[in-house]
Order: sequence, then structure tokens, then C-alpha cells
Amino acid sequence: MRKKILAANWKMNLTQPEVQRWAQQFNSFNWSSDTKEVRVYPSAIYLASLAETLPSIGAQNFYSAPSGAFTGEVSLNQLQSIGVKSVLIGHSERRLIFQENDTLIAQKMKAALQQQMPVILCCGEDLALRQAAQHLTFVNAQLSSALSGIDPEQTTLLTIAYEPIWAIGTGLNANAAQITEMHAAIRSLLLELFGKAGQDIPILYGGSVNAANAQEVFACPEVGGALVGGASLDPAVLYQLWENL
Ligand code: PGA
Repeated sequence: MRKKILAANWKMNLTQPEVQRWAQQFNSFNWSSDTKEVRVYPSAIYLASLAETLPSIGAQNFYSAPSGAFTGEVSLNQLQSIGVKSVLIGHSERRLIFQENDTLIAQKMKAALQQQMPVILCCGEDLALRQAAQHLTFVNAQLSSALSGIDPEQTTLLTIAYEPIWAIGTGLNANAAQITEMHAAIRSLLLELFGKAGQDIPILYGGSVNAANAQEVFACPEVGGALVGGASLDPAVLYQLWENL
């Protein structure tokens, strides 16, 4: 059984003094556990310093080539050399604002797994797809594309995060029935793609998770933790989520 995961995605937030205060407050709580783990995904400029003081630091983004002429980008080698422990791939903000398409996402997946870098692969539909009852088909296609050609043995590095776009940063989290339906569909797909190995891949929920709804979210079957944006900017709130996990 893999550990439950609480992943804090800061996105493009917090200045250096705020990061110092955040880390100090974070370290005043007890995060040790045999059954769950906390990961922090800060802006790239803070990765090196935070990797020395926080338990598990991850990168919000990277490029798949090992090195070379890719201005503005960061490689997996570089991230590993400063102690980064995991990466996010396929976040809807990367897909929509930075035009990351399925081909690039599949390429990033392959590069990360080849490099033995643990991945949280994000997926999720927009409101129009949900209203058209296309959400299951859409997420199935997103994941099938990103996961094609991956061996079952590599799935120990894999975590999925289901994040409906209409729930991200909006305060509108998906309800228990919606989360349960999608997480069951994702689990079936993982079993279909990877056989028995598909059973152990954690599936996180993300989208306006906060202290008020965490208990309901975490009680849904197949929810193996959360990817948290806004609420993770306050370590005390993050710790409340941890206590509910
Ligand atoms: P949110 O973001 O918790 O602010 O909705 C979640 C995410 O995008 O990872």
C-alpha cells in the first residue's frame, strides 16, 4: 500500500521573505508519519534552498531534454542535482496558459520515468465537458495519451491527480459523488493499462480543497490524498488538511 500524499502547489506565489516565514511555520508542525507524506511544489527559484530544509520538494515544471539550448527551461538532471524529489506534469494551467499539448506531456512523462523521477500527472475536464457529460471520456483520453508506452514496473513512480478545471481556484470543489465517479473510472483505466500494478497508483483529488471540505474529499473511495493550491499558502491550513488525511 502506497502512502497517502498531501501535495502543496504554490503556483506563482510567495516572495523570498514570505517563503522563509512559510518554511519556519511549516517546520513548527510534526509531519512525520508512516502512512502519509507531504510534498511542496514551490516556484523554481526556491527549490534549491527549500530542498535543504523541507522533507520533500518537487518542481512545478521542467523540460524533457537532458541539457542544451532551451532558454528559460530547467532539466530533470538539474532538478535532481539540487535534491528535487518529484515533478508535476500536465497541470491544467500548463496545458491551457502555456499550450502544453498531449504530445509534449507524453514526452515529459517518458523523460521523467526514464530518469527515475516520481511524477504527479494531472488531468481534468472543463465545465463545458462536464455539462455535456463528456468528463469521463475526456479524462480517459488525457490519461491514455500521457501513459501510453509506460511499463507496469515504472508505475511505482506514478501518482495521478484528478483536478476538474472548473474547481481549481474557484472555491467550487467537486462533490463526493463526482469525485467518487471519476476516481473509480481512473482506477479502472489504471488496472486496464497496467494490470495489478494499477491498483497501487495513488489518485489525488485537487480543486479548491480546504479545511472545510477536506474531510468529505478524503472520505471518498480511491482518494489517496490531495493536490492543494490556494489553501497550501498557509502552513497552518495545510496542517489541518494533513490531520484530516
Ligand atoms: P486550488 O488549486 O487548490 O487553488 O484550487 C489546485 C491546483 O491547481 O493544484
